[in-house]
Amino acid sequence: MRFDPLIRNGTVVTATDPFAADLGINDGKISAIAAQLPIENAGRVIDAAGRLVMPGGIDVHTHLDMPFGGTTSADDFETGTIAAAFGGTTTLIDFAIQYKGQTLRQAFDTWMKKAHDKAVTDYAFHCIITDLGAAQLEEMGQLIREGVTSFKLFMAYPGVFMLDDASIFRAMSQAAKHAGLICMHAENGGAIDVIVQKALAEGKRAPKYHALTRPTTAEAEATSRAIALAEMAGAPVYIVHLSCNDALEKVREARDPGLPVYPEPCPQYLYLSLDNFDVPGFEGAKYVFTPPLREKWHQEKLWQGLALDTLQVVSTDHCPFCFKEQKELGKDDFTKIPNGGPGIEHRLSLIYTGGVHAKRFSANRFVELVSTTPAKLFGLYPRKGTIAVGSDADLVIFDPNETQVISAKTHHMRVDYSMFEGIQITGVPKTVLSRGLAVIDSGKFVGRPGAGQFVRRQSYSRV
Ligand code: URP
Ligand code: ZN
Ligand code: ZN
Repeated sequence: MRFDPLIRNGTVVTATDPFAADLGINDGKISAIAAQLPIENAGRVIDAAGRLVMPGGIDVHTHLDMPFGGTTSADDFETGTIAAAFGGTTTLIDFAIQYKGQTLRQAFDTWMKKAHDKAVTDYAFHCIITDLGAAQLEEMGQLIREGVTSFKLFMAYPGVFMLDDASIFRAMSQAAKHAGLICMHAENGGAIDVIVQKALAEGKRAPKYHALTRPTTAEAEATSRAIALAEMAGAPVYIVHLSCNDALEKVREARDPGLPVYPEPCPQYLYLSLDNFDVPGFEGAKYVFTPPLREKWHQEKLWQGLALDTLQVVSTDHCPFCFKEQKELGKDDFTKIPNGGPGIEHRLSLIYTGGVHAKRFSANRFVELVSTTPAKLFGLYPRKGTIAVGSDADLVIFDPNETQVISAKTHHMRVDYSMFEGIQITGVPKTVLSRGLAVIDSGKFVGRPGAGQFVRRQSYSRV
């Protein structure tokens, strides 16, 4: 068999093992794994000596080209997937939003058009449900059969996205019936709204009040309620963007007796804190996202949760808005600052740095968190999320020793600031393949908009 490319001399790292092996790729799939493969008949040969060869990252929480907060997120499917690829992420699951009065199919069709000729790597969709009547309940089963096997619901943003408990329970029951997975934004939106109105009436309008009006208890309460509703419905639940120890404790209580509850933190909650609001003027708007940043001590609790498997996945919740003109919409009122931060590019390096380089967990656990478990939970495994014969050759050739300092001056996201400005990372993706084709080659973009394909996902199966 002819291999093109053939990756030689690397250390292959999966969620379970590190081993020295060559990888032979044929027709976009991994077709041979051996101590040594013959190069005579090979096409391109990539020498991975001194490097780790890992399955491509899977980011299951991104918002590309998303209308939100009176504007639209700054990365579209072209710039977003390019930035993701620079960071070693080769598959995204983005959110198609069903607005009130729409069918779920309209949401799916709209987001398919947004991605179609722009994505440079593969993508899939969850569907955000904001209006759940009998017709949409019926549609959930149809979408699951077409590969949209997970749905995001909101317990926050009243009047925009928030659903009541009865609708959430109906959606969870339907998901249970069709092996779908509900992803929950767990914050008590009603209580938060009252706190926000009080703050505004007291003249508290600066960016930091976005954080100070969203207590950790509001996240813990909603997390606990989401878990209870899921248990009653006999459904699994995936808790998106978990930010604090209070919510983590609720998850731990549920997971201990074996409930299928899966939380994801994001790098911003592992690296940033309320201290980031100690910046001049309106600069704090760069850190306005939801749930908000917490006191610094929560960070170590989240890192421990990742090491001990209370937390299973790290995603980015990439939802970028430029500081100029976009974040500035809320200059006089924090409630008008579009919520979201840019993170799609540095997830792997940040988690490798804080996890493996800092000796909190192994390189295998790292792969599990950023690729394998997301693939398993969201129906992409074993096509993606591992290195096995027959899997897509979505691969990252990673230099575990290279250091870089993150900066908006050098990043590839279409946004004018970095949340992680000045943070030093150790471990950098050098060459990134999507179905065997180089997208990033020795640090340079060589991919093609439109080369990414929609991935029809399998339904949820228990991890
Ligand atoms: O602030 C955030 N997280 N923006 C994106 C929407 C969401 O709730 O995930
Ligand atoms: Zn959310
Ligand atoms: Zn989000």
